[in-house]
Amino acid sequence: MQRSLILLKPDCVQRRLMGAIISRFEEKGFNIIAMKMLNVTPELSKQHYAEHVEKPFYPALESFITGAPVVAMIIEGLEAVGVIREMLGATNGLKAAAGTIRGDFSSSRQMNLVHASDSPESAAREIALYFNENELCGYTPTLTPWFKADDE
Ligand code: CMP
Repeated sequence: MQRSLILLKPDCVQRRLMGAIISRFEEKGFNIIAMKMLNVTPELSKQHYAEHVEKPFYPALESFITGAPVVAMIIEGLEAVGVIREMLGATNGLKAAAGTIRGDFSSSRQMNLVHASDSPESAAREIALYFNENELCGYTPTLTPWFKADDE
């Protein structure tokens, strides 16, 4: 089992695409084990995007990500980190394959609707930025036997 930190970004919230995108993850069979809406502060943005803070596009990224609420989620499942990145598609919506979330809904490099952790290590770091341990609600869905075999 892996966990990934997902952010439905301000463009997703403003464009009323939250439900459509959450449905993709649910339909795939992943478990949402934590979820909340919040305003990202400039401080949190700098922590989250620490690897991008020195890049030329960072000021615009910070202004975008702090410009309207986001929805933060923790999604759990087998190979969740890699599978969710595949589901999102390439960073730039114009380059993302049709059938992916960005390929279907985004035509922008910055406004690409969803963030997902790029490794289990990033997921652990990002989850700790957005959630306290007591906000996680792990559970075993009763449909699990219909999503995968016992030995998977
Ligand atoms: P995300 O996967 O959340 O990680 C970093 C974010 O920075 C990325 O999605 C985009 O929203 C944004 N981003 C990445 N590259 C660029 C770029 N070249 N110009 C503007 N924004 C970018």
